[in-house]
Amino acid sequence: MNNAPNRISQCASGDQIPNSPNDPATHAKNIAGSLLSARSASSRRQPDSFDDRTHLNDSLQMLGEQLRRSYLESTRALVAAVEARDPYTHDHSQRVSQHAKTIATRMNLGHREISRIETAAILHDIGKIGIPDNILQKTERLLPEEFDVVRCHPTIGVKILGHTTYLRRELPIILHHHERFDGNGYPDGLAGEQIPIGARVLAAADALDAMLSRRAYRNALSMSEVRLEFSKHRGTQFDPVIVDVVLEWLSEEGSNLEMQLSQHGASTANC
Ligand SMILES: [Fe+2]
Repeated sequence: MNNAPNRISQCASGDQIPNSPNDPATHAKNIAGSLLSARSASSRRQPDSFDDRTHLNDSLQMLGEQLRRSYLESTRALVAAVEARDPYTHDHSQRVSQHAKTIATRMNLGHREISRIETAAILHDIGKIGIPDNILQKTERLLPEEFDVVRCHPTIGVKILGHTTYLRRELPIILHHHERFDGNGYPDGLAGEQIPIGARVLAAADALDAMLSRRAYRNALSMSEVRLEFSKHRGTQFDPVIVDVVLEWLSEEGSNLEMQLSQHGASTANC
């Protein structure tokens, strides 16, 4: 389903955007307020007690987290800009993030690893902002030289995001989300456990969303076709352990997932 007209009409409505607690301006005010409080407190006396140092540490951690969230919100705007260039990719990153979280949780990965995978999944295709429209929006199959250009998007993505320390643990997941378990992927041809676990999870989640989505040249795959594809590429394209987790998930909840996606009209373009 093409959601572009809805988005355009929402944008043209002239409604005021509410001052959300996540917007950069609010964050900036909060951060400035916290900094002033901290500065004022430190000018009165040095943090000489255990309680003072604990309070200062907590405040610094809170500021760091606020800055990180503010940065992520800005970066998500870039992702939205990429997806807005092609209505077929609307909400792809959000769905991939949800799939990746489900897979990682079913694998019993740690809380922090799951959180990193979720974040990386939201941002994984941000490098497509550097891919020309005539390739990104092409509805026919890509020519080999066009696919070479598309293959640059993970590297472009980490160049865009690599200017900050906030995402240093997510960057390897983003860089390697198109590696294959058999070493035939890109950009570095890593194989097996050389590929970060988060990137292996993200690769499966990304492929799942692509299979369940309509493309310009084919319909969405049925759930039984999706299961067949994962089984066929177990140990070649995908980590076999992750394929087993995905197959178990789909056999338990596949029909619910299929229904949710059909209601949202999930669809993606060429890459
Ligand atoms: Fe990608």
